[in-house]
Amino acid sequence: MVTVRMEGLTKYFKKGKNIVKAVDHITYKISDGIAFGILGPSGHGKTTLLRLIAGLEIPTDGYVYFDDEPMSAPGKIVVEPERRNVAMVFQNWLCILT
Ligand SMILES: Nc1ncnc2c1ncn2[C@@H]1O[C@H](COP(=O)(O)OP(=O)(O)OP(=O)(O)O)[C@@H](O)[C@H]1O
Ligand SMILES: [Mg+2]
Repeated sequence: MVTVRMEGLTKYFKKGKNIVKAVDHITYKISDGIAFGILGPSGHGKTTLLRLIAGLEIPTDGYVYFDDEPMSAPGKIVVEPERRNVAMVFQNWLCILT
């Protein structure tokens, strides 16, 4: 496993004329081997934060590191999601039955 480190991690979304600050300058370290949970009210950025760590969102600003290797940087994905060895269970399932 790895230590996940976020540095000034930020994700803003445009919603019409407004800007939604889904994740706003988070600096935090989740050490290797730790079981870690994120709690918070609906719409406060939990899923967006996980998507940033998995590489499914491009940061508006800030960095994601696994150990000391940069995964994401401001405005770009450095290591693609499929190369991060991260699994994510999505909260909403889309089932297409044919
Ligand atoms: N792709 C997107 N485009 C625009 N706005 C988005 C997008 N994804 C998330 N948001 C907005 O970012 C904010 C945070 O959403 P997020 O889904 O991360 O919250 P959450 O804490 O996971 O909520 P919940 O507990 O309901 O799952 C919300 O205001 C949401 O509407
Ligand atoms: Mg969510």
